[in-house]
Amino acid sequence: MEPSDNPYTTAENGHGDLEKLKDGLAIITGGASGIGFALAEASIAHGLHPVLVDIQDDNLTAAAAKLEASAAAAGVSVFGCKTDVSSIDSVEALAKSVSERYPDKPVSLLCCNAGVGVGGGVLTGSNRDWDFCFAVNVMGVLHCIRTFVPQMLEQNAPGSIMATASQDGLCAGQNVYGVTKQACIAIMEGLHQELQGRLTSHVLCPQVTATNIVGSERYRPDRFGGPSQLSPMAQAAMDRFRSEGVPPSQCANHVFEAMRTGTFYVMSEAEKDPGYIRLQVETRMHSILNGERPFRPRSPWHAEIFSPRRNKESD
Ligand SMILES: NC(=O)c1ccc[n+]([C@@H]2O[C@H](COP(=O)([O-])OP(=O)(O)OC[C@H]3O[C@@H](n4cnc5c(N)ncnc54)[C@H](O)[C@@H]3O)[C@@H](O)[C@H]2O)c1
Repeated sequence: MEPSDNPYTTAENGHGDLEKLKDGLAIITGGASGIGFALAEASIAHGLHPVLVDIQDDNLTAAAAKLEASAAAAGVSVFGCKTDVSSIDSVEALAKSVSERYPDKPVSLLCCNAGVGVGGGVLTGSNRDWDFCFAVNVMGVLHCIRTFVPQMLEQNAPGSIMATASQDGLCAGQNVYGVTKQACIAIMEGLHQELQGRLTSHVLCPQVTATNIVGSERYRPDRFGGPSQLSPMAQAAMDRFRSEGVPPSQCANHVFEAMRTGTFYVMSEAEKDPGYIRLQVETRMHSILNGERPFRPRSPWHAEIFSPRRNKESD
């Protein structure tokens, strides 16, 4: 089969005009910070009512308050709902709260964006690291899809689903985090086939982004080992992410553009590192197709952000 024979073309995966989503709900997990918060801002700009979903209560309240003025100006409302996406009971309670608060509004956008950054590799990550990362980055995405998508299909209204994976989900040589992001992409690919064009679907694969993702250990739930302070090395890495990473608003803009045009794999590249995500994908596919060993190329910019030498210098 030629790629052009693929029945699920990108053209069928876009709304063309996003006006048709206006006045619907945008449910955004991880909405209190980073990319999720930027998705909430972009939702407001498109006339959607953002439902901020997050496990961090204080951040949730602060984020909702920060959006109040722009939401009022756009004639939409903001609702914050504390939820742990790794728990199906918590996600089902979220769905109940949303339908009680907005009985007549369709869910026009579901953003399965909440995620945690967990270190460690196949051998070096602990069982709890694997459990924690899979519970949020994989099961959290599945819980939200399996709770909200059946309802979205019954609404008989246009809608979109996106999940935030990572460039790590596209390339070879992964650690605990990257493995969960490969699973996230696979879930969205499977969902895309099952939807058969009834809703649009997209997976965001960003380069290093200016958020708090490196700080997830500070709120690791007790059942996965409990919270811990960031090491000076992790703090330095988080500072570099925040000062040098892609602006979260760029990721959000790319998602809304994809909902318009139909792009499924949304590669949000760093302006300072053009072509790197594509290079990683091409390298992996080349290895698969040519019987070569897996290899992840490094870019100077990417290496600088992760470089232990720089961590030492900034300690
Ligand atoms: N920042 C990056 O460099 C980068 C790159 C690629 C992908 N991503 C992905 O982007 C997504 C958003 O993260 P971010 O970078 O904005 O980081 P962030 O830490 O700023 O935001 C993540 C949000 O998710 C919330 N969250 C975590 N666990 C949760 C749970 N169990 N239930 C509900 N909410 C929970 C956190 O409280 C936080 O507010 C994540 O999936 C992350 O893996 C980030």
